[in-house]
Amino acid sequence: MSTIYLDNAATTKVRKEVADSISLVIQNEYGNPSSTHSYGRSSKALVELSRKEIADILNVKSSEIIFTSGGTEGDNMIIRNCVNNLGVTHIVSSKIEHHAVTHTIDNLLLSKNIKVSYVEVFENGDINLDDLKYILKETTDKTLVSLMHINNEIGNITDINAVADICKTYDALFHSDTVQSVGHYDLDFEKIKVDFFVASAHKFHGPKGVGFAFVRQNSNLGPYITGGMQEKGLRAGTESVHNIVGMSEALKISIKNLAAEKKYITGLKTYFIDEIENKIKNVKFNGNSADLTSSTYTLVNVLLPVKRKTGGLFMFKLDMKGIACSKGSACQSGSETGSHVLREIQDNIDNDKVSLRFSFSIYNTKDEIDFVISQINELAN
Ligand SMILES: Cc1ncc(COP(=O)(O)O)c(C=O)c1O
Repeated sequence: MSTIYLDNAATTKVRKEVADSISLVIQNEYGNPSSTHSYGRSSKALVELSRKEIADILNVKSSEIIFTSGGTEGDNMIIRNCVNNLGVTHIVSSKIEHHAVTHTIDNLLLSKNIKVSYVEVFENGDINLDDLKYILKETTDKTLVSLMHINNEIGNITDINAVADICKTYDALFHSDTVQSVGHYDLDFEKIKVDFFVASAHKFHGPKGVGFAFVRQNSNLGPYITGGMQEKGLRAGTESVHNIVGMSEALKISIKNLAAEKKYITGLKTYFIDEIENKIKNVKFNGNSADLTSSTYTLVNVLLPVKRKTGGLFMFKLDMKGIACSKGSACQSGSETGSHVLREIQDNIDNDKVSLRFSFSIYNTKDEIDFVISQINELAN
């Protein structure tokens, strides 16, 4: 049976060129980058070249890129560090962030004397920036704002330029989870004045288990993982050299091909929306995901006219037909409580129906979409 992978917001297929570069490094460059002999220096040079390539693409300084194991670690590193080392006592965030952010905040609340404010989220999943201003105007605490760029479930794009300006006006630090946008958009962080952002290689056809955090110069973060002086002492541990090289390669290719690939994937998303609306009665879309300007081109979140209690079976049947998509978000699969994002923005009637996230990549085709929609149609009726 052939399979169709429409879960690219959960993770992506590694590009062949990326796999080749990883393979070369893993076979030949086994020196520890901390060693001072030639083997070590050679590995170190690869790590530093990758750091420079990533920094150049995002228009930041090499010294501002800290390699991590991925997005979850990056979010933890920044948020915990702001509380533990920078004296932040107030976190302003939203209820529709990724769990890497929401659970980190919940966990900090258990042991730290901090307060948390949640910015209002509109029914379409947009963040109320007036509410953000209001909260920041009222607070006298040292504050960190944590708001993601692109929502991984509904695709809504938050204007992080505007958020950064608001944070500057009210003297708050700003962290943005940019896991769904780095590698998919041309981002210039010389212009976007965030203090911290995080990325993850496996979201842009790179390897799993590697990512990076951007820490703006002079931010004064303290050690997050202790035990060595790697990554400026912030994150000790021998660097995953092959993964770091693979991540840099993946980012370079994604950005080089961005215009063409964005056009192709946008075409798939548009086709998917048109076809599903034509073929299935009473289908709706969650958040802004059907809007091509206010949501990412990489995903759509569909509300089907199917009772939620049959959702597990529905997913199972799709899986049996070789179709991979996601119920809300990947992190939610198997969870009885459903998506925290959809719960926040849907009314009770819609929340009692099945929502599926389909996310696209250059490896998908319109034929695949035709097959997927025909199967959904069969199962929904
Ligand atoms: C928005 C967002 N943040 C963080 C993460 C976690 O990234 P990682 O899998 O690299 O830990 C994800 C992955 O699903 C994500 O979509």
